[in-house]
Amino acid sequence: MLHQTSTQPSPLFERDWMITKALDAKQAVQRALQTIDANMITFGDRFPDDTTIGNVYTLRRARNGFDEGGNFGWTTSFWPGMLWLAYDLTGSDVYRRGAERYIQSFVERLKNKIDLDTHDVGFLYTLACVAPWRLTGNTHAKQTALKAADHLMARYLEKVGIIQAWGNLDHPEQRGSTIIDSLMNMPLLYWASAETGEPRFGSAAHRHAAQLRDHVVRPDSTTYHIFYWDVETGEPLRGSTVQGYADSSCWARGQAWAIYGFSLSYRHTGDEKFLRTAERCADYFLDHLPADNVAYWDLVFDDGSEEERDSSAAAIAVCGLQELSKRLPDGERKRRYQSAAETILASLVRYYTPGDGIESNALLLHGVYDKPKAVGVDEGNLWGDYFYLEALARTLNPNRELYW
Ligand code: GLY
Repeated sequence: MLHQTSTQPSPLFERDWMITKALDAKQAVQRALQTIDANMITFGDRFPDDTTIGNVYTLRRARNGFDEGGNFGWTTSFWPGMLWLAYDLTGSDVYRRGAERYIQSFVERLKNKIDLDTHDVGFLYTLACVAPWRLTGNTHAKQTALKAADHLMARYLEKVGIIQAWGNLDHPEQRGSTIIDSLMNMPLLYWASAETGEPRFGSAAHRHAAQLRDHVVRPDSTTYHIFYWDVETGEPLRGSTVQGYADSSCWARGQAWAIYGFSLSYRHTGDEKFLRTAERCADYFLDHLPADNVAYWDLVFDDGSEEERDSSAAAIAVCGLQELSKRLPDGERKRRYQSAAETILASLVRYYTPGDGIESNALLLHGVYDKPKAVGVDEGNLWGDYFYLEALARTLNPNRELYW
């Protein structure tokens, strides 16, 4: 059943308080760490695949000329990112050493420009290199992250004020492409400005985020997945989707990236318009949740649908709502987003983690990577696991500034 457009307030805040009360973040972290401990043995210094198959991660499968277990694609940093979170949560050197083993791989990847024609440089180097710099003062990681920021800046199209998503800058189909996820890559640039004192990184990130705010967020507060610009004139052209249900629908993970990405844009720039945009995106997301508060993979679907949930969208949204709530003054809206974050997270902990009788090495089950292409449907995925653990870490220590 397709979701009926509704102006009804979400029942989110009137229900499931029992679940919220059941949220035991410490216990959930302990369970997650047990899985991470086992995965450290399984993967050594190589990388798990983007998603599970039958709920189980294997080594990253060889493809496109890359070796099995290699560092390619956009998701590899989420695994060391989880190890850095584990170190942050426990102070255990086992996790620190485990995470440090991956830094050199990211140094090599950047040096040799391996699969880096992408905006995803921010996801990759924020977790793999900014995190160790912040947590341990690793200057090698810091220098690498600064070089990664330069690499990302090379994708900045000054005339349009955007960072191109994919491909060479003269690629006929990819010229002028942007994607909502890219908001999460901007913190690498804000960080680079803060470290170097050079405003060019942060200015580009601010302009890029403002372009997405003004054109990728639709008047009804939903988001396009992808948006194209005319690189000659700077004019906005059209929005579309690849991983959503339809060009005009609202891909759940995209909306979650928007909640978190615009909240972070506010944090780094102080531009109030980003805060308002994050609130609008959050309100739409919360108003279109099913009964258990974990979004279907596209917000066009509602209870009664045969479609799958995307637990990773829920985990990202929780982190976004926590960040948004943190930036708001005391009051009803701050409490609303905080309560929503707790409620969604409690549902994830209770219903979406592997329970007895389920063989899985994922932290979170029931994610969707790309439904239209039938990739990673109803499976665990690395980013879902990372943001689930980040949400738990934020719950245990709301004042901790994370790596973004
Ligand atoms: N950043 C790609 C995705 O969310 O699937």
